[in-house]
Amino acid sequence: MAVSLRDRVVIVTGASAGIGQESARAFAREGARVALAARRADRLEALANQINENGGEALAVPTDVSDPARVEALVARTLKRWGRLDILVNNAGFGHVCRFEELTEDEIHRLVEVNLLGTLYGIQAALPIMRRQKSGHLITVSSIVGKRGTPRNAVYVATKFAQVGLTESLRVELAGSGIQASVICPVGTDTEFVEAMIVKNPAFRRHVRYGPIQSAAHVAELIVRCAKHPRPEVYPYLPARLLVVMNALAPRLVDRLLARFSPKLSVD
Ligand SMILES: NC(=O)c1ccc[n+]([C@@H]2O[C@H](COP(=O)([O-])OP(=O)(O)OC[C@H]3O[C@@H](n4cnc5c(N)ncnc54)[C@H](OP(=O)(O)O)[C@@H]3O)[C@@H](O)[C@H]2O)c1
Repeated sequence: MAVSLRDRVVIVTGASAGIGQESARAFAREGARVALAARRADRLEALANQINENGGEALAVPTDVSDPARVEALVARTLKRWGRLDILVNNAGFGHVCRFEELTEDEIHRLVEVNLLGTLYGIQAALPIMRRQKSGHLITVSSIVGKRGTPRNAVYVATKFAQVGLTESLRVELAGSGIQASVICPVGTDTEFVEAMIVKNPAFRRHVRYGPIQSAAHVAELIVRCAKHPRPEVYPYLPARLLVVMNALAPRLVDRLLARFSPKLSVD
């Protein structure tokens, strides 16, 4: 039976753009109350106003997810406003396009702090509340590259694999608790992701996208569907599952396919 989202309380991180912004809108359309988190306060306010003017309920909470105190405060504000927390969508994240050795130590730290530690801090703050409620849903937006590594984004890939492993582990740990854990594995999605990523050579930005591209609204729709019908893993582009199976059976073959079809950059 589908879970009703009416009056459910949802936190969406990375709600100022792309998949997070569309997810917040999609949850609000289902009647959920949405706490919007990201660093850009003006964008969050604009989205909250839009949702509230359309009869929904939204709260903008400017948050840098790499700061555990701010993430605690985000959850505390949500709780103060609505008294519960039903769904945490850990979506904030960014990437890079360059060879591994081109990244500085600071850049490596930042990628891990936002993509992985940001996810952990969110879960750490949300889980005690969900335990008390004996219900809740942790939804983490990883990537298809959290299932199969691709070239020139090794540290991003490592953070996305970590999110998948974290969710798998929690899923078993939380079995019987009433709390669900799901991971979303989108392929390339039309958002601001490419503009936000670390690049060493701006010309490489246009090479980032190859393979199928989906819309943020489509990914958001499947995130909401996952909240209504909890599932361990969601592949918004279904054929991507084939890649995962193929990689489990023949990783060297997938290495060769990626080497052949990923765009050649002048540094290669
Ligand atoms: N686009 C793709 O091709 C693709 C494919 C697979 C998976 N994904 C995953 O989807 C998720 C969303 O990405 P997107 O494509 O929607 O990219 P996007 O349009 O660039 O949005 C990224 C969001 O993350 C927020 N963010 C970044 N750093 C943050 C921080 N330190 N604290 C709080 N929020 C932060 C940004 O807001 P502020 O800048 O305002 O903080 C923004 O709202 C990411 O986890 C990404 O890995 C994307």
